[in-house]
Amino acid sequence: MYSLVIFGASGDLTSRKLIPALYNLFRKNRLPQPIRIIGFSRTPMEDETWRNKLLETTRQFTGNLFCETTWSTFAPCLYYHAGDIGNTDSFTSLSALLNQFEKEHQSEVTETHRLFYFSTSPQFYAAGTEQLGVTGLSTESLGHTCRVVIEKPFGTDLESAKKLNENIHQRFDESQIYRIDHYLGKETVNNILVLRFANAIFEPIWNRNYIQNIQITANENLLIGRRAPYYEKAGILRDMFQNHLLQILTFVTMEPPARFDAKAIRDEKVKVLQSIRPFTEEEVLQNSVRGQYRSYRDESGVKKDSQTATYGAVRLFIDNWRWKDVPVFLRSGKGMPCRSTQVVINFRQPPHSMFSGTLSDLMLQGNRLLLQLQPAEGIQVHFMTKIPDTEMKIRTSELNFNFKNSFSGEMPDSYERLLLDAIHGDASLFARSDEVEAAWRIIDPIQKTWDEGKMPDPEFYESGSTGPVQADRWIESFDENWFDLCPLV
Ligand code: BG6
Repeated sequence: MYSLVIFGASGDLTSRKLIPALYNLFRKNRLPQPIRIIGFSRTPMEDETWRNKLLETTRQFTGNLFCETTWSTFAPCLYYHAGDIGNTDSFTSLSALLNQFEKEHQSEVTETHRLFYFSTSPQFYAAGTEQLGVTGLSTESLGHTCRVVIEKPFGTDLESAKKLNENIHQRFDESQIYRIDHYLGKETVNNILVLRFANAIFEPIWNRNYIQNIQITANENLLIGRRAPYYEKAGILRDMFQNHLLQILTFVTMEPPARFDAKAIRDEKVKVLQSIRPFTEEEVLQNSVRGQYRSYRDESGVKKDSQTATYGAVRLFIDNWRWKDVPVFLRSGKGMPCRSTQVVINFRQPPHSMFSGTLSDLMLQGNRLLLQLQPAEGIQVHFMTKIPDTEMKIRTSELNFNFKNSFSGEMPDSYERLLLDAIHGDASLFARSDEVEAAWRIIDPIQKTWDEGKMPDPEFYESGSTGPVQADRWIESFDENWFDLCPLV
């Protein structure tokens, strides 16, 4: 018997992502049975009222995958429990409800699995896990598991992340904790592991001898809109770098794990994060730039003199044998010309050019491997070819692989993968406590230098442009260029 409790049942994430993902898993027969999904929030509501609300939002967010008949068999799994996350009585009654469900099914199944999903504001994570502990809901026994899933942001800096880890560890063992980063549920992010470790041709050249630089970009055309109260405090580093960009970086740069299991993978990720050179203030000034889209200060809830960055670029170095002196550029911005998350591996030029002194030599470029993570999911290899019917003139050509053309069906949303893994107790795609802390250790000095006014103010850029002009000059100062591609669709 599986019970999934969602704290923050009336929030946006629940209706936009969690319930549609659970509905899709149910539709594909992937959800274990029997299962109860219990929404927990303050507003008193009948089960039926919650189901009706979710019917509308799930229809909206699953689009043409929605089917009334399937919904009518899924909806009876949904229950609602009104409660206050800081109140012991609310958890005692929740516990009684879970016991009752399990009793109803005890003749069919003896094992019981409970998953508590914190989709609340982060300030409630500690209080909620504490109440689960107080009421005995965190205790596992033979044939009975209890897990917590914690949404991002996990802390706002190293100190708060450590404190939160300490609080949760008072009630839950690390093996019960699933810290979610939805980028790790994206098929194309997982495909980085397959590309690197299920093929023999890439790994031998995946190092400082062949790679000149790595660029990881997560750009969005979205503006901040209604999220200003959160975003004003977070900014681009906390919102995108500490989690999503560094997670992608670990997949691109970690050593091959011995096995595809949670410990082996997470050990390698932590090792690479710990090898990233921590910056002094002086180094932050040299190795980062920031910007703000011009209309940001007009958004409701944003201070008129806000220094919050909506664009950032950082140059990191991984001090280990594989990556010594290979710059890794991370970049993310809101209000960009298009949504595009990509990894660009820029290879070195051939060590010696036989075309030296000719026009061809001038056209020679290093090879490039482009991993388009979203939205036009695919992989491209850029290489030099001779232009037919010319003297020895050359230019860059592309080999293009596109998931859409090669596989049928819709790309699943990342929450489907992650919810299923958490339900089944596979933590490979969730961040461990030391991993989260290692990521904050990298971001903290940058954020601190930015916050303390040691940097020039964020440069304004027009929304829809490619970001601050300074970001181009900055990368050019290292004799590099951004490789940009608005996605091929
Ligand atoms: C979230 C950030 O974690 O990721 C948002 O808080 C951002 O600011 C979002 O827009 C991007 O996610 P995706 O899956 O749309 O790339």
